[in-house]
Amino acid sequence: MENLKNKKALITGGGRGLGKATALAFAKEGIDVAITGRNEAVLKATVAELKALGVTAIYAVFDVGVYTEVKTAIKEIITELGTIDILVNNAGIASIGSFNEMPVEEWTQIIQTNVMGMYHVTKEVLPYLIEKNIGDIINVSSTAGLNGNPNISAYSASKFAVIGMSESLMKEVRKNNIRVCTLTPSTIESDMTVELGIAAKNSQDSVLQPEDFADLILAGLKLPRRAMLKGAALWSTNP
Ligand SMILES: NC(=O)c1ccc[n+]([C@@H]2O[C@H](COP(=O)([O-])OP(=O)(O)OC[C@H]3O[C@@H](n4cnc5c(N)ncnc54)[C@H](OP(=O)(O)O)[C@@H]3O)[C@@H](O)[C@H]2O)c1
Repeated sequence: MENLKNKKALITGGGRGLGKATALAFAKEGIDVAITGRNEAVLKATVAELKALGVTAIYAVFDVGVYTEVKTAIKEIITELGTIDILVNNAGIASIGSFNEMPVEEWTQIIQTNVMGMYHVTKEVLPYLIEKNIGDIINVSSTAGLNGNPNISAYSASKFAVIGMSESLMKEVRKNNIRVCTLTPSTIESDMTVELGIAAKNSQDSVLQPEDFADLILAGLKLPRRAMLKGAALWSTNP
């Protein structure tokens, strides 16, 4: 089993939701964590929770969709943490709207964040992993990346794109001992799904929770290095 203690992880969108649950689960394993997002107050509060678990925890404020911001921030994170072993590309946005009614700017923003954001961050982290000849990248797609549905064309297109990008990268860097995992979770309770009206607040008895997502990621990371979780679909037992 892979020993994760003292590894260094970067989690985009780590201040809340699925990213925060992952950061907390990593910290409990002794992994030092850098979390990122646009809301500094949220990141600061989560970093305080992470530090209370006894690990090094830092944050960086930037928009994953803006390449110049990403470039600067990733350099600073690597300087502070010393290296990155695990990248969780989790930051993402979603909105619901019919194909014609959603404004072009909103459609574009979803692609810019979910697709270009993941590309920007990975592009800046990857050279370090290749140089070390070891690393893990977890890319968060969705069931919406496997099936289209009405009123979610931009989000679905973005998550289909994530799968294509992630699987291509996996085949490119497997030889470099870099494991790239593509996750396609179903509905999990978070700000995103509560705001979209897909999940109710405090629905832990019936809806997947961010901790379930974090447990899945850890299970993949703990596999011996000869083994790689290529992808996983996390579903609820409650139909
Ligand atoms: N919840 C689900 O049911 C579900 C299912 C499948 C896939 N997913 C995917 O899982 C990921 C996390 O979702 P979630 O449910 O935890 O959503 P969430 O609670 O809304 O959190 C989204 C996170 O992404 C960050 N983020 C959004 N836009 C950003 C940007 N432009 N630059 C930097 N950070 C940005 C947010 O931080 P700031 O607001 O501080 O920027 C926040 O930390 C997303 O990729 C989502 O598509 C979620």
